[in-house]
Amino acid sequence: MRLRKQIAQRLLLSGCALSPDQIVITSGCVEAGVLSLRALCKPGDAVAIETPVYFNFLQMIQDLGLKALEIPASPRGGISLEALEYALDRNAGEVKACIVISNFNNPLGGRVSDEDKLRLVRMLENHQVPLIEDDIYGDLSYSDERPSVAKSFDKTGNVLLCSSFSKTVAPGYRVGGVAAGRYQEQIERGKMLANVATASPTQLAIAEFLANGGYEHHLRSVRRVYARQSAKMSDAIGRAFPSGTRVSRPQGGFVLWVEMPEGVDSLVLYKKAKALSITIAPGSIFSVDGKYLNCIRLNAACWNSAVEVAIETLGRLATEQLTAAPRD
Ligand SMILES: Cc1ncc(COP(=O)(O)O)c(C=O)c1O
Repeated sequence: MRLRKQIAQRLLLSGCALSPDQIVITSGCVEAGVLSLRALCKPGDAVAIETPVYFNFLQMIQDLGLKALEIPASPRGGISLEALEYALDRNAGEVKACIVISNFNNPLGGRVSDEDKLRLVRMLENHQVPLIEDDIYGDLSYSDERPSVAKSFDKTGNVLLCSSFSKTVAPGYRVGGVAAGRYQEQIERGKMLANVATASPTQLAIAEFLANGGYEHHLRSVRRVYARQSAKMSDAIGRAFPSGTRVSRPQGGFVLWVEMPEGVDSLVLYKKAKALSITIAPGSIFSVDGKYLNCIRLNAACWNSAVEVAIETLGRLATEQLTAAPRD
């Protein structure tokens, strides 16, 4: 209860007035997402997702026997509401959930504006499609303003807001939660069947961190660090990568989406980089059918001279692909 009280208090900053009993604690955000999908869908149902999308969502959808319906998203405003509306109309009755990372999305970094959050919530209500909102990066805004969540516009309990402390404190704590609106009972039952409850020592540690102001203090510092590091990484990419490369400019979080010229194969780049102990996420893992082959996602959570050299190496490897003599 101590943690749920603290989370409910923090949710006020994102525009949500919820009571602690409206929150179910989970072992991280992935569990919150899986429980939500299980509560809403049965095998064969379709789930609307952004594309490119956090690859774990694709795995969840596949594992649960669901179909992914990809909706284009942009690095600025996130999911295209026009494309979503069109897809909902065309697939009426088949789409049983929609997953959106509303703030500083992984991998594009986009943030859905307040106006679009409201439109998204209304549109999904009208189509009777529940929204699974992932707000795991919402506390990592580079400005002092904590962005709202779509859940704050939800009047009917149609939004299941999922998050965790994995990106702000540490993934190893495995502490997250879901405010599941009208689906709370199904989520509680699913949680009970999965693993009864999330370990209490880590819950208490996070609750104490929130209550004594340590979390807020920590956020103030990491937000500045991530803003600085993603700008540095972005500049380094500009210097090292082939001309024509484009990099996202997120306003929060710590992932960068890098679109290289057509002709660079990010899977080849991944293998060559891995051999040199450099880890990148190739673009194709963020889609159902291997799109975004000329893109990569980079993590700017750490910045030092070794990372700077790694960016130079990646840029050189990408350039070599474009300049390599074509084979007969
Ligand atoms: C959008 C998003 N949701 C969920 C997760 C995983 O969260 P957790 O470790 O709390 O399960 C990640 C981790 O990369 C993520 O990027």
